[in-house]
Amino acid sequence: MWSSSAVASNRAVLLTLSLLQLTRGSPVVTSGVSNYSFPDDFIFGVSSAAFQIEGGWNEGGKGESIWDTYLHDHPTFTLDHNNGDVAADSYHHYMEDIEMIKSLGVQAYRMSISWTRILPNGTDNYINQEGVKYYRTMFEELLKANITPVVTLFHWDMPTPFMNFGGWTNAKVIDYFEDYARVAFKLYGDLVKMWLTINEPHENCESTYGLAVLAPALNSHGVGVYLCTHNSLLAHARVYRMYEKEFKPEQKGKVSIVLDSMWGEPKDPNNPEDVQAAENYLQMHLGMLAHPIFSEEGDYPPFVRERINNMSREQGYSRSRLPYFTDEEVKALRGSADFLGLNHYTTQLLSPSPMEPTWQVPSLYHDTGVKMEADPLWRMPGPDWLFVYPPGLRKLVNWVQNNYKIFKEIPIFITENGSSDFGGTEDYERVNYYNDYLYQLLLAIHEDGCNVKGYFSWSLMDDFEWTDGFTTKFGLFYVDFDSPNRTRTPKLSAYNYGNIVRTRRIDFDYIKRLKGLNTTKQEDSS
Ligand code: BGC
Repeated sequence: MWSSSAVASNRAVLLTLSLLQLTRGSPVVTSGVSNYSFPDDFIFGVSSAAFQIEGGWNEGGKGESIWDTYLHDHPTFTLDHNNGDVAADSYHHYMEDIEMIKSLGVQAYRMSISWTRILPNGTDNYINQEGVKYYRTMFEELLKANITPVVTLFHWDMPTPFMNFGGWTNAKVIDYFEDYARVAFKLYGDLVKMWLTINEPHENCESTYGLAVLAPALNSHGVGVYLCTHNSLLAHARVYRMYEKEFKPEQKGKVSIVLDSMWGEPKDPNNPEDVQAAENYLQMHLGMLAHPIFSEEGDYPPFVRERINNMSREQGYSRSRLPYFTDEEVKALRGSADFLGLNHYTTQLLSPSPMEPTWQVPSLYHDTGVKMEADPLWRMPGPDWLFVYPPGLRKLVNWVQNNYKIFKEIPIFITENGSSDFGGTEDYERVNYYNDYLYQLLLAIHEDGCNVKGYFSWSLMDDFEWTDGFTTKFGLFYVDFDSPNRTRTPKLSAYNYGNIVRTRRIDFDYIKRLKGLNTTKQEDSS
């Protein structure tokens, strides 16, 4: 129960935020302490991914993933012409990583296994014991420190031998993914109780096959992108059902998938066409992945099916570019998750458009028919794409909760959220971002009744940011990529996040006080 004074001061914070929201500008850091707090069973964590931090690309018997191979063959593919050979060198510095995680006080660490570190050929005919040991030690050390490992099986580092025959566009990879997952469950299922099959199939498929910005930049827009999506979903279901049958009774773990979505805000909320465009966007980009798993009826959303069928027909295709599931596949997919992992970073203003200069035909964007633009008032602390609009997180969580009844029973975890910049440790913008986004999450939980049970910041430390190389920074910890030891230093955002984790509230003045800056201190009265 909240005391009345607590409610009153909470309203003060709310008022500041809602005034700012009226202009759609992102709330800048406000004052006081949030009187809503994160419930006791709410899990705080930090996230990373193997290729982005590990390095050790050819050490300890590891095989090549497509990111190793493609970047060696195309050294200028990334902005700074760098690759992930060393990255943050977590392969050698993982004990420091664990100390960093401990210092934040979080309960969980989301990381991924590099498929080819334990299966160098991708296939299960040869298991690399050095790789096996690396992750086993890591999980054991995390558990010793009371940190729950949350493990993603596939965070975009497809074994090179499989990419040579199409990667996710080839349905055979579903079998190999199942074999790999079985090996991982056998090896680590005694230690790992929270598994994520695939990270962001939407982003992975669209950026690899549609936009050609993720390695190996295959231009198969409007066709390959849907094959990849379809097979990723099937691979997820296969692994979920395999765990359910072969491992769950004994290991008692939970398995899910990580879906990603920006929030789509109607450009003019009073224009029904913009409102419809925003809904269409969400169905085409998030619903396409979420509906088969989380809806009562399963399969692709009817709108998505109809839209891509119609577009394909108009373009002269004799069959839809979006493949069909069999009845059995629909059944296997429906309910194939014990929770939802949801990644969210940004928002765009949406309005209908039949064609934009940057779209290819056919493509997911052309099929969607929605123009995206940013509000000029939104801040963009990093190089591109990430506009700060904190209410987007609350709205997205509500959209998910309202669209799929299952979230009354199973929880949502925000598995990634965070902000980019160009570097340094005095990252006030990131501090603001976390305060404001987490505040919106508190509102989603307490005022809207959304079933959100955890939050993972992206990212533990500065990392290899895919096509951006090392130019874009997302870390709570700064990594000196010029030092041989890849020295790590906490940023202001690490102190701030640690304070939120420890107090379970957001103190909007915490960093200002820490830095001896002026604050209008507001007492937390509960
Ligand atoms: C990916 C991360 C990436 C982050 C920020 C997410 O889509 O899962 O690997 O680093 O975005 O760019």
